Amino acid sequence: MLKLSKLATAVALVVAGSAALAGEVEVLHYWTSGGEAKSVAELKKIMEGKGHVWKDFAVAGGGGDNAATVLKSRVVSGNPPAAAQIKGPAIQEWASEGVLANLDATAKAEKWDSLLPKVVADVMKYKGNYVAAPVNVHRVNWMWANAAVLKKAGVTGMPKTWDEFFVAAEKVKKSGLIAVAHGGQNWQDFTTFESVVLGVGGAKFYNDALVKLDPKALTSATMTKSLETFRKVKGYTDAAAPGRDWNLATAMVMQEKAAFQFMGDWAKGEFIAAGKAPGKDFLCAAAPGTSTSFTFNVDSFAMYKLKDAAAQKAQGDLAAAIMGNEFQEVFNLNKGSIPVRLNMSMAKFDDCAKLSSKDFVDTAKTGGLVPSVAHGMAIKPAAEGAIKDAVSQFWNDDKITVAQGVANIAKAAATK
Ligand code: GAL
Repeated sequence: MLKLSKLATAVALVVAGSAALAGEVEVLHYWTSGGEAKSVAELKKIMEGKGHVWKDFAVAGGGGDNAATVLKSRVVSGNPPAAAQIKGPAIQEWASEGVLANLDATAKAEKWDSLLPKVVADVMKYKGNYVAAPVNVHRVNWMWANAAVLKKAGVTGMPKTWDEFFVAAEKVKKSGLIAVAHGGQNWQDFTTFESVVLGVGGAKFYNDALVKLDPKALTSATMTKSLETFRKVKGYTDAAAPGRDWNLATAMVMQEKAAFQFMGDWAKGEFIAAGKAPGKDFLCAAAPGTSTSFTFNVDSFAMYKLKDAAAQKAQGDLAAAIMGNEFQEVFNLNKGSIPVRLNMSMAKFDDCAKLSSKDFVDTAKTGGLVPSVAHGMAIKPAAEGAIKDAVSQFWNDDKITVAQGVANIAKAAATK
């Protein structure tokens, strides 16, 4: 009898123990469009499969500006989520506040150092310790197109240079359709802008001007040419663009209302989620003049310090799941990006992803691999916000001359 009751106590303890390991994981993200929501649902599925409770904390708003504001208020009030979708230098800023958890135990057990490109691992670490887990590599310098719209307008093949692009855009305009689908937030303007700068000036100029914020490059003739080209692109957008979300611009391309969109490959996630076929319904190519470069945008989750042991365990499991083979494949198939984990099979991926994967590796060797400024990978948030505003003011107000635009951007870049 005594033995039995001892056994019952032991069983009860084991059961209680395993229940205690199932924790709640609250995840702040901004993946709310069709393709994005499908992608994040895969992470939720994996976490629930491990017995954890997923608390979704989605803050709508492409590019994540709204999410960043909400995150700040939560952390300041001492109530951070377990994980938040932040990236680039913003990870370092959060880490320097002392609020991020140390993920080294998971990283060591899962061998992250050997599974990640060094350029990515460095961004995930603060003072040598992992504080964030990367999910993917998005390429930003893409141009998307609707194949039927191009055909109707008599455009054969995707334009490779800006000159070819304007010839094609003119043909689309004459056919009665919108040449460039564009939306209305400053990060969307900058997504187009950085592709123009890259195409006009090349990777070295891009780095000097937009990453190093070198005043000489920022006020050079190449920057003038970039702004002229950028303004010319604006001429091919429609009047209803201001305020439009990026995924609605993608929908215009899908619905044969517009020909092109300059957007990172999360746009491909939208096409795929809508059942469109790459190479058939929609086409992908590097933005004009940028085929030997790659603007990278690595999505990642920073993990915040938590007190509850079960929540900490769930957080470790989330970090491990994010870097796992299973998640890296299924998430990126939906998201439009490529796995960040090295040496993964690309067999199930489409040709756009295969090209991205090849170019990521090639450009890392040639110096063409550059961080996206529009997507928070390159410079401190304060300067990034200031130059984004200067670029959007120029885009939105045709009365600002190119010379004034150049001066405004150079001045904004000096923001500390
Ligand atoms: C990017 C982010 C992508 C995608 C996009 C639109 O900054 O890296 O994952 O979500 O914004 O929301």
